[in-house]
Amino acid sequence: MLEKDIEKVLVNQQEIYDVVERLSVEVTKDYADKYPIVVGLLKGCMPFMSDFIKRLDFHIEVGFMDVSSYHGGTESTMDVKIEKDLDMPVKERHILIAEDIVDSGRTLQAVIGLLKTRGAKSVEVVTMLDKPEGRVIPYKPRYIGISIPKVFVVGYGLDYQERYRNLPYVGVLKPTIYS
Ligand code: PRP
Repeated sequence: MLEKDIEKVLVNQQEIYDVVERLSVEVTKDYADKYPIVVGLLKGCMPFMSDFIKRLDFHIEVGFMDVSSYHGGTESTMDVKIEKDLDMPVKERHILIAEDIVDSGRTLQAVIGLLKTRGAKSVEVVTMLDKPEGRVIPYKPRYIGISIPKVFVVGYGLDYQERYRNLPYVGVLKPTIYS
């Protein structure tokens, strides 16, 4: 039913599986002895973070923040708002932020700045998707799943007006849906 709104599949389920596996191996090498807090940025992080943390065979803690920048549209805005804050201290802890996508970099600029102000020992990012052409704030995430072109994508956590997050793959919406 949702498939009829999708122009093309950009990252299919097998590719997602392989990418999550590779990221978990990379992160395990660097964090197995660091007892990090994996911080998911809601809501988009949900499917990726769920798949990702299940492949980490070492101690972690999990936390969530909700930081909004899109406000339901297809373009990122300057406005970054903390809707829900972390409920644990980060002082002297290694933080690994789990993201579905990095676009302009504004969300991460705000969150990384905040966590560092609170005394985090390190703050790095693991993201399923990276859209480097969208960058307004220069930033390169430490762990990148797949780089994609500057197209508006939905699925595997990514939404258009809160819909399509539950698609099991990443796809490009038909322009008729949002024009
Ligand atoms: C999306 C996405 C990232 C952010 C990336 O979140 O999940 O957190 O935008 O964009 P940026 O690099 O331009 O800041 P959004 O604010 O749409 O909230 P959501 O996760 O609830 O969809």
